[in-house]
Amino acid sequence: MEYTKIPRESYTPGEGVNVRWLFTDVINERGYKDLVEIGVFQGKFSRYLLLHTNDTHLSCVDPWAEGYMHKSGNQIPGENVYQFACRRLKGFGDRVDMLRMPSLEGAKTFEDSSLDFVFIDGDHSYQAVIDDILAWWPKVRPGGVLAGHDYGILTRRKHAAMKIVKQEVANVHKAVHTLFDEVGEVVERPGFTRSWWVTKNPC
Ligand SMILES: C[S@@+](CC[C@H](N)C(=O)[O-])C[C@H]1O[C@@H](n2cnc3c(N)ncnc32)[C@H](O)[C@@H]1O
Repeated sequence: MEYTKIPRESYTPGEGVNVRWLFTDVINERGYKDLVEIGVFQGKFSRYLLLHTNDTHLSCVDPWAEGYMHKSGNQIPGENVYQFACRRLKGFGDRVDMLRMPSLEGAKTFEDSSLDFVFIDGDHSYQAVIDDILAWWPKVRPGGVLAGHDYGILTRRKHAAMKIVKQEVANVHKAVHTLFDEVGEVVERPGFTRSWWVTKNPC
């Protein structure tokens, strides 16, 4: 597949979502409409998805619970992060739904084979990634994509130096391959993103 790079000037200033334009290209090219992001935080990638895709609807799944840490070392209340994400996405109106709940609860609110694109970026522990894949894979339509973040190489020096990020990447990698290799599904890493994706067989 050929990817068309979105011009740099179409990024919102200060919101470098670097190479994730590969996703929006594929979403537009394949005409995907029903999207879900699991693990939304402040809504940066959600906004990017909505901004750069045509006539899509995005469900944002995140419990926005406590435990967010500011770089100063202070805790940030989950409610503040949730409100920030809501403000950021407000302009998209009914193209977006906020599902304030954990991933596995969120999955239960969708019919099987009802979603075109599901992006997992929530709890990065090994068992949580396994559980997320098992819960969301049936929700993806034949021909749709299940994808997730923190899988590939660490391109930013600050990330490569962080033990926790390295561990998360190892967890995601192991979980993805444990499940998909066994059933012969092809795991792709688009371009030089830090993400994985699997296209569900259309038949
Ligand atoms: C790395 S951040 C997501 C960043 C976002 N995807 C982006 O690119 O802008 C991880 C988020 O996952 C959320 N999270 C943690 N456990 C979760 C769970 N079980 N279900 C859904 N989200 C979860 C956290 O609350 C946090 O906001």
